[in-house]
Amino acid sequence: MVTRTVDLRSDTVTKPTEAMRAAMANAEVDDDVLGYDPTASRLETEMAKIMGKEAALFVPSGTMGNLVSVLVHCDVRGSEVILGHNSHIHIYENGGISTLGGVHPRTVPNNKDGTMDINLIEAAIRDPRGGLVYPTTRLICLENSQANCGGRCLSVEYTDRVGELAKKHGLKLHIDGARIFNAAVALGVPVHRLVQAADSVSVCLSKGLGAPVGSVIVGSKSFIAKARILRKTLGGGMRQVGILCAAALVALQENVGKLEDDHKKAKTLAEGLNQIKGLRVDLAAVETNIIYLDILDDSKFTAENLSKSLEQHGVLVMLEGPFSIRIVLHHQISASDVQYTLSCFQQALTGVQDENGN
Ligand SMILES: Cc1ncc(COP(=O)(O)O)c(C=O)c1O
Repeated sequence: MVTRTVDLRSDTVTKPTEAMRAAMANAEVDDDVLGYDPTASRLETEMAKIMGKEAALFVPSGTMGNLVSVLVHCDVRGSEVILGHNSHIHIYENGGISTLGGVHPRTVPNNKDGTMDINLIEAAIRDPRGGLVYPTTRLICLENSQANCGGRCLSVEYTDRVGELAKKHGLKLHIDGARIFNAAVALGVPVHRLVQAADSVSVCLSKGLGAPVGSVIVGSKSFIAKARILRKTLGGGMRQVGILCAAALVALQENVGKLEDDHKKAKTLAEGLNQIKGLRVDLAAVETNIIYLDILDDSKFTAENLSKSLEQHGVLVMLEGPFSIRIVLHHQISASDVQYTLSCFQQALTGVQDENGN
């Protein structure tokens, strides 16, 4: 019988802490669609300050945060956005920017470190003289940390250079900052400096920060005023939303300081996994809380049978491909959970049978 669960599927699986639940129970609330919820206002004011932007808006999810942001920047039909081929917006958001917003995506390859080459971004910007046939480039999107590249961090220098490029061509810059605090902590820079060049940022509260629900978008006052209308259009205007924002305020106070420890635990786990025969982790790629694990070609294991075996010991991971597994650390994974996970991997790899029973 499994007596212990170590849930490494994502940093979205955290449970609200007692302090969050107490804050939710006691939250002062009012109708936020009418603009009167004091706890929502408090969270938005606090987040705008932390991110160094004029204003902020709570939205139900990171997906809606990105969608609203892209649509505000691309409010003219025939707009095009340049974004990474491996970005969350492009792959995992149901193509919402196109299907709902009529925005055309133009992808540039993400390098292994999460960046897109600046010269390729520039080359992807449409020549306005071809306006008769081309869509009009209006926006560049970055993702920091870049999840599909393994939680890699985009530096201040890189972000500033993309910001300068955007300005030079009269474009806006949006950052999908679902894990921007992880990136800022790993890079050792204040988060407001990291996003200084961006016109908007979408920040997830329910990933590394551990709040149960929600994201916040930040930007100029006029950007947020337009975003508020679009949020309502999309059905994201919520009434006594201070209940959720109260938990997010606790997450901001309590959990930003824990991210560094999550990254350390990710490194310890990655190093340990890399020492197990049949497994390989690119250790240099583990910069934040995400680990991609390859099961070596000559191994008799697949990601599926390995994860099933781990599950029997209460260790939950995410399948990434036939021979690839994703692991994500968060504040509810202890140092002892890391050691337990390593021992379960070790045991699984020596105990799993292949389909021939060997
Ligand atoms: C990089 C990134 N952006 C955006 C999102 C979307 O967030 P949500 O699941 O809250 O819609 C995610 C979710 O995993 C993500 O990893």
